[in-house]
Amino acid sequence: MSRFYYTTPIYYVNDKPHIGHAYTSLATDVLARWKRLEGHEVFFLTGTDEHGQKVEKAAQDAGMDPQSFTDRVSQSFRLLAERMGYSHDDFIRTTEPRHKAACQALWEELVRRDEIYLGHYEGWYAVRDEAFYGPDELVERDGVKYAPSGAPVAWVKEPSYFFRLSKWLPELLRRYELPAGDPDRIDIAPDSRRNEVRGFIEAGLKEFGAGSPKLDLSISRTSFTWGVKVPGDEAHVMYVWLDALTNYITALGYPDTSAERWQFWPADVHFVGKDIVRFHTIYWPAFLLAAGLKPAKRVFAHGWWTIEGQKMSKSLGNAIDPLALVEQYGLDPLRYFLLREVPFGNDGDFSRSALMSRNNGELANTLGNLANRTLSLIQRNCDARLPAPAAVAGADSEFVKGSRHLPETVGTLLDQQKSDGALSVIFASIREANEYITIQQPWALKKTDQERMAAVLRHLHDALRLYATILQPFMPGSMAALLDQLGVPEQARRLEDLSTPLPGGIPLPPPAPLFRKIEDAA
Ligand code: MSP
Repeated sequence: MSRFYYTTPIYYVNDKPHIGHAYTSLATDVLARWKRLEGHEVFFLTGTDEHGQKVEKAAQDAGMDPQSFTDRVSQSFRLLAERMGYSHDDFIRTTEPRHKAACQALWEELVRRDEIYLGHYEGWYAVRDEAFYGPDELVERDGVKYAPSGAPVAWVKEPSYFFRLSKWLPELLRRYELPAGDPDRIDIAPDSRRNEVRGFIEAGLKEFGAGSPKLDLSISRTSFTWGVKVPGDEAHVMYVWLDALTNYITALGYPDTSAERWQFWPADVHFVGKDIVRFHTIYWPAFLLAAGLKPAKRVFAHGWWTIEGQKMSKSLGNAIDPLALVEQYGLDPLRYFLLREVPFGNDGDFSRSALMSRNNGELANTLGNLANRTLSLIQRNCDARLPAPAAVAGADSEFVKGSRHLPETVGTLLDQQKSDGALSVIFASIREANEYITIQQPWALKKTDQERMAAVLRHLHDALRLYATILQPFMPGSMAALLDQLGVPEQARRLEDLSTPLPGGIPLPPPAPLFRKIEDAA
């Protein structure tokens, strides 16, 4: 048994959750559940990012004090996590005392190691991204300057503490390039993101020269107060990203590195969206290295969802509320669609007709149908009892052999965060099982060869048990229902249990449909 630590970004509480937020956490949930299924110990963290100018402004706009405002919005992210069925072990809020204490301890450690100095910041800042931008990065439209993300920027000039980021850049470049398996490697995936980050650092080093203070990072602000106070200088609050990133170690008990939970550090994968890669692959590992801590092993950046072909935005008012989708289509069809529709890492488009076609074609017609046909035949023709384990005959071997390696294949794909690929191989096998049932015609065998009929149904039952077991991380609710219908006891639903056949003769409950067809996607 090994330990694995997976994290989602912590979500800004300036607005209510949308489908993009649900997505990052969903991908994390699948891997966390998979590793538990493999029998490992997992710590899965999510939460909310509650400080900074952006949140302060949202509270003002809502006419509320920031704490009451964040209490309210944070609750809606907690509810989302619950309704989406995430299996997180902790939900962190950056306004909690444990987090403020961890941030201040990290700050003090950086001061002790001479990694922080006081200066003045002068430059462009985008509140929407909570990010500083160099003049070369900006784009100008109608005389107004914008960040590459499209966020408006403003010129900021104020006293600020700086982190000696410049000092760590060459070390980061070295670590990105270390071979897989090297314990010091910082793995950035997909490859395109690693190249992007490397290019960004190399451009900075080329422009200003290694060690230039121009490459250092402003890590405090004095123009607003909604943040963690800088120890010893309360006119400053910490830069919201230093505060936010620290959540990943707060939850493990930092600064108490003898805490039981600390054993989970370094994180195995930080799941993030492509917009926040720079923070997780440059600033965060640099802060950690500077504090004498190990950086996370891997950062995986997924793409962005558009809605029916359009960018999701407040002004277009097209942000999709995931809870409304759960209500309308059911949780597992939504989980399946989000995980299956788009290669993880690429951008994708959310459309109701695509969700409907995945649900109807793959869940209802392919998996649902296989389960229903098999279990109904067992009900009717085998006295509602599971047939005894059967020998593999010539006509079975391809099908049985094909599915046997699925858990290993799926595990390998999920370790690369290829959840779409994992679902694709599982459903290819389910389609083969449907072909097998059509060719073998167990309903016809009832009259000609009952022994063979029982063997065919048993092979199908074994396959369904395998599918249901390995699909649990993707669709926990409906796969629990399928395992119930298959008569698999609750304590026998891990991967290792698959090697112990269920005894023949156990009674099976009457089957019930697992997925309903969506008739109208509107
Ligand atoms: N608070 C920061 C993260 C701090 S982590 C230490 C933040 N929050 S966020 O709420 O703006 O975004 C959180 C996540 O949602 C990001 O991973 C982002 O990529 C993701 N998404 C936001 N909109 C999205 C889409 N339209 N599509 C897919 N994911 C997107 O950034």
